[in-house]
Amino acid sequence: MIKLSAKDPGVFAGDLLIYFVPETDKKTIPCANGAVRRDLKKAWKSGDFTGKKGQTFLFYPAASEKELTADRVLVVGLGKKEEVEDDCREQIRLAAGTAVTRACDLKAKTLMVVLPAKTGLADADVAECMSEGLILANYRFDKYKTGNKDDDRGNRVEHFFIQDGGLNHGKVRRGMNLGKRAAEAGCLARDMANEPGNGWTPDRFAQFARKLARRSGVNCRIIDKAGMKKLGMGGILGVNQGSALPPKLVILKYQGAKKGPTLMLVGKGLTFDSGGISLKPAAGMEDMKYDMCGGAAVICAMQAIAEEKPKGINVVALVPATENLSGGSAIKPGDIITHFGGKTSEIINTDAEGRMILADALAYGIKTYKPDAVVDLATLTGAVIVGLGHHRTGLLATDDLLVEQILAAGDRAGEPLWRLPLGPEYSKQIESNVADIRNIGGKGGGTITAAAYLQEFVGDTPWAHLDIAGTAWNFTEKSYIPKGPSGIAVRTLVNLVRNWSWVKKL
Ligand code: BES
Ligand code: MN
Ligand code: ZN
Repeated sequence: MIKLSAKDPGVFAGDLLIYFVPETDKKTIPCANGAVRRDLKKAWKSGDFTGKKGQTFLFYPAASEKELTADRVLVVGLGKKEEVEDDCREQIRLAAGTAVTRACDLKAKTLMVVLPAKTGLADADVAECMSEGLILANYRFDKYKTGNKDDDRGNRVEHFFIQDGGLNHGKVRRGMNLGKRAAEAGCLARDMANEPGNGWTPDRFAQFARKLARRSGVNCRIIDKAGMKKLGMGGILGVNQGSALPPKLVILKYQGAKKGPTLMLVGKGLTFDSGGISLKPAAGMEDMKYDMCGGAAVICAMQAIAEEKPKGINVVALVPATENLSGGSAIKPGDIITHFGGKTSEIINTDAEGRMILADALAYGIKTYKPDAVVDLATLTGAVIVGLGHHRTGLLATDDLLVEQILAAGDRAGEPLWRLPLGPEYSKQIESNVADIRNIGGKGGGTITAAAYLQEFVGDTPWAHLDIAGTAWNFTEKSYIPKGPSGIAVRTLVNLVRNWSWVKKL
């Protein structure tokens, strides 16, 4: 729980009071609170604490310290002042993450966080990034732990009180709410991903969307197996053949403008990827329960959008959801399927299933909703990890303005992307002798040939594809990102929609 507090930090009686201090060359400690400056003095002079990024200093104010009655005070280093606004934002999130980590070690349950001044950011942005960092760092998934609570569950902060530290109270409130909404959506995506394959099934996506629609007023439609058959969605049906669970195509529609532009989001909701008949190796296969992270990102971003209700834009989200298993009627290498819209595809490798389910969703969504721009997200290729590691999401797109907006939204969220090319030479790699296309591109450029497959289904609509296989879990080490699923791209999408006016220019 996170709340704004107008109380004087000097009389805070909770478990831990937190201040943030930047690294400077100056002799005077850059902290507005005189008592904190007094207590910090020796550590500052000796160079033990200098405000460096990641540094913390814990002290217990003396009983004689009348200006500071908290039991414990933690001072967290922000690091040197950053020049670029997005770097300032990340600096706050990282420091918030460091604060939460220390607080959890101390088993502190009630925190007051005093916002830092002179960060180079607008007041609302400081509050936004601080609440993002706090909430994202305080994430735990312990639903399936039944043992000793303290050992198994890890400690969590229960109450955050944000103190404006002299920043404009109203702006701080607004920023805090923005950060809270986006971060909670990110944590929700982590929850979905952390659920095992026997917990988060295609039907769970459908149930969640229906409930979201009911409580927020967005429109929800679920296309089930029979509906897919009628529509000729051979990609989703083909991948689903080896599974005992029926597939779902989950559709959510947010209307913020009757005549305004429409952004379409598509997320891969593969609730477990065994590879199918082209079976994956056993080692690490359990991680393939995370193959639904694109779908989770899209649905959770829709929750934030539905709550925020931006005017002037419509957003439609599609999540094709199924397992990829190798049951008796599973699709086989050499099989030919027909996608929605009639394009045929020769299935060379049943493990290249993400593009098959996305192709139907893209083609169907574009035909039905006529969006002005399309963004899809998928844990699509291992090759993107070879290329970019776990530090950046791969971005492939047909429109430069859309790319610019997505890169900016990602940087603002601390979720960086890197663009890779598309082109006819890559599209040639997916030509088939017997069908219109085939589902793998042979040696080289695996991330690009996967995107080239999707490109076959988007026509002229401005389109961008995010390959999040390297970032959806094991994302680059950060204080506010846990080891498992990261919730990647949720906040990027939320930023993209918050700043939607570019859609009209496409
Ligand atoms: N879901 C996987 C991609 C993946 C691999 C995500 C590792 C995260 C970590 C996808 O369905 C897949 O299996 N892709 C294949 C494609 C290949 C058969 C052309 C891959 O990357 O190996
Ligand atoms: Mn696969
Ligand atoms: Zn997959």
